[in-house]
Amino acid sequence: MISLRNVCKKYGDKDILKGIDLDVQAGSCTVLLGPSGSGKSTLIRCINGLVRPESGEIALAGTAVALHDERNWQQLRTQVGMVFQDYSLFAHLSVMDNMTLVPVRRGLMDKATAQKEALALLHKVGLAYKAQAHPGELSGGQQQRVAIVRALLMRPKAMLFDEPTSALDPEAIGGVLAIMRELAADGMTMIVVTHEMRFAREVSDHIVFMEDGRIVEQGPPADMFERPAHERTRRFFSNIH
Ligand SMILES: Nc1ncnc2c1ncn2[C@@H]1O[C@H](COP(=O)(O)OP(=O)(O)OP(=O)(O)O)[C@@H](O)[C@H]1O
Ligand SMILES: [Mg+2]
Repeated sequence: MISLRNVCKKYGDKDILKGIDLDVQAGSCTVLLGPSGSGKSTLIRCINGLVRPESGEIALAGTAVALHDERNWQQLRTQVGMVFQDYSLFAHLSVMDNMTLVPVRRGLMDKATAQKEALALLHKVGLAYKAQAHPGELSGGQQQRVAIVRALLMRPKAMLFDEPTSALDPEAIGGVLAIMRELAADGMTMIVVTHEMRFAREVSDHIVFMEDGRIVEQGPPADMFERPAHERTRRFFSNIH
């Protein structure tokens, strides 16, 4: 579903991504791990066009993104959903308007359809009763659940999560992870940056370990947790066990 070849990104004259090759199978859940500053956020932001790499190849569902074609990037943005640590809801809009604004404005669906589908999604995550509330009236966990279904309303081909539970208290974390588990079980293609090791181990199909802008090692969770091949990966896992 997602394929990256030799993706490179610089900030100023500093190399941040140093040639990333990555394949994400349709319907799989990939967890991205690595120390702070290793490039995890930069990498997943490249996959929805929030960050533009200087070189390399990115393809979604077999369609290559022409790196210098703005329309290609915009298309990618509508096809790949993204959820951030800080929810990024529009504070001045109701939950319903937060969800429907972009798909309606982009002409992906008419307002009535968008509202109907938004309500169904909110219902699924137990938040239909908050449809007319503003984000400030919701807890962090509730806001994050809205951010997830807001992305889902766009019917994305893949979903990216950048530390979606890092700002939440333990109880709220459980609710958000439960939705992500369900999404994975439903066959959504996902890439997740997270420190939730139980999620990584139990839900993911594939773990990618990055350091200093490179993928050091990747593989199924059992191999990565039990018998990492690289010394650096071993050290990382020994610190979190
Ligand atoms: N907009 C930016 N301008 C300049 N440098 C940046 C920018 N964003 C990230 N960087 C640098 O790129 C490197 C990778 O950052 P990135 O945020 O991708 O790391 P990360 O693995 O997500 O870290 P963390 O676990 O702390 O979130 C870091 O050295 C960071 O300082
Ligand atoms: Mg990050």
